[in-house]
Amino acid sequence: MNNREQWGSRLGFILAASGSAVGLGNIWKYPHMAGQNGGAAFTVVYLICILIVGLPILLGELAIGRNTQLSPVGAFNKLSGLSKWKWVGFLGVASAFVILSFYGVVGGWTLKYTILALSGGFDALSGQPDISGKVFSDFIGSSFQPVIWQLIFMSFCIGIIIKGVKSGIESGAKIMMPLILVILGLLVFKGLSLEGGKKGLEFLFKPKFSDLNPSSIVMALGHAFFTLSLGMGTMITYGSYLDKKQNLFSSAIWVILLDTFIAMLAGTAIFTIVFAMGADPSAGAGLIFVVLPTIFPQIGGGVIWGALFFFILFMAALTSAISILEVITAYFVDEKGWSRNKATLLFGGVISLVGVFCSLSLGDFNITNFMQVSFFDFLDELSSKYMLPIGGALTALFILKKWSIPVFLDELLIGVKERKYEKSFYQNVLKICLIISSLIVGLIIINEVFDLLFDQSLQKMAGF
Ligand code: PHE
Repeated sequence: MNNREQWGSRLGFILAASGSAVGLGNIWKYPHMAGQNGGAAFTVVYLICILIVGLPILLGELAIGRNTQLSPVGAFNKLSGLSKWKWVGFLGVASAFVILSFYGVVGGWTLKYTILALSGGFDALSGQPDISGKVFSDFIGSSFQPVIWQLIFMSFCIGIIIKGVKSGIESGAKIMMPLILVILGLLVFKGLSLEGGKKGLEFLFKPKFSDLNPSSIVMALGHAFFTLSLGMGTMITYGSYLDKKQNLFSSAIWVILLDTFIAMLAGTAIFTIVFAMGADPSAGAGLIFVVLPTIFPQIGGGVIWGALFFFILFMAALTSAISILEVITAYFVDEKGWSRNKATLLFGGVISLVGVFCSLSLGDFNITNFMQVSFFDFLDELSSKYMLPIGGALTALFILKKWSIPVFLDELLIGVKERKYEKSFYQNVLKICLIISSLIVGLIIINEVFDLLFDQSLQKMAGF
């Protein structure tokens, strides 16, 4: 294990981990979820979920990784004395396969739209959401184009992972994360300078508690997991490349702050532009690929702004996608003794192939027809509704029942110079947070299972 790679610097690690966290979830999902579910009211609930459920599990994953210096399967195996807990690690590896298969498809779309914007292709869509919607659905439903873009996206991903932790993941994050921040900052500036843009701020940030319902709370919680890349061992894997000098607590806070800040910047950029141009803010998931292309041509320098927007979406997706592939590569390197090249090429290839079916399922070729959802939606729901929350809850239970809170705290305190309170105080806080998070997540999973089996979720039954 001596030749195991490590991060080159603390900043490099924070950028890589926040690169994993910042992804399609921040720029694509968060803005429309917040906009439709009560604006700031949703954001407040989301922040509470991040702090109570997200932070303890993020700390837990990082500590498990750093303590064992192993990726998830080996880590659970080592800490639990080769018991059944290793299956939590396998669940993580399986989730990585599932998520990357469809994530790579959307990654391909972001590339295609960057090029489309740059070549002036949005001009023909100006002010015409119907045409834009048709262009988008024709594109994602066709058999050839999206597959090619998905394969190009996956090649970038494989190329970075092959280069390793320091020269691949860390170097990539050091270039892409600052670029994302700067370009988003410019877009926010542009949006705010447009006449009427400030109304977008109100839409996103003014609390509308009447729009907040139990299902938005469930949504905020699920999103807290997805956006922090929790529940599948990504943060265990990234934590395993950390040395013992670092303060895990402050690193985790940095990751959360950057993730949240970028989500809010993205929301601000999008809604100021949408409102200034009088477009429909409630377009939901289609907001980005359908509505934005119709309004970029109407603002000055729209070709560049449009291309920059889709380019940051591409970089955000890429820094997340590499963290997903790294979970799989690290498993085969750590546990099976494979070379990094072999593991990455083989499994990057397999995932690309599954992704091809995922993409094709949005057109005429759907292998999951019998379930009434496309293969693409099936993988998306399977991972974000079930696999990640189950993985997260099991990680919390593992720490509570097997690893033990005092050992967890000792790992967290390495690298912490001064402590304000007694150890027992921190132990109690950690314990309470982990119990709360496993309970809440457990409830949500039961809710989803009810909904799936009986088309009756608990909140529907309670009459909401
Ligand atoms: N956090 C990423 C996003 O917000 C998605 C992701 C989930 C990445 C799980 C890695 C692991 O888009």
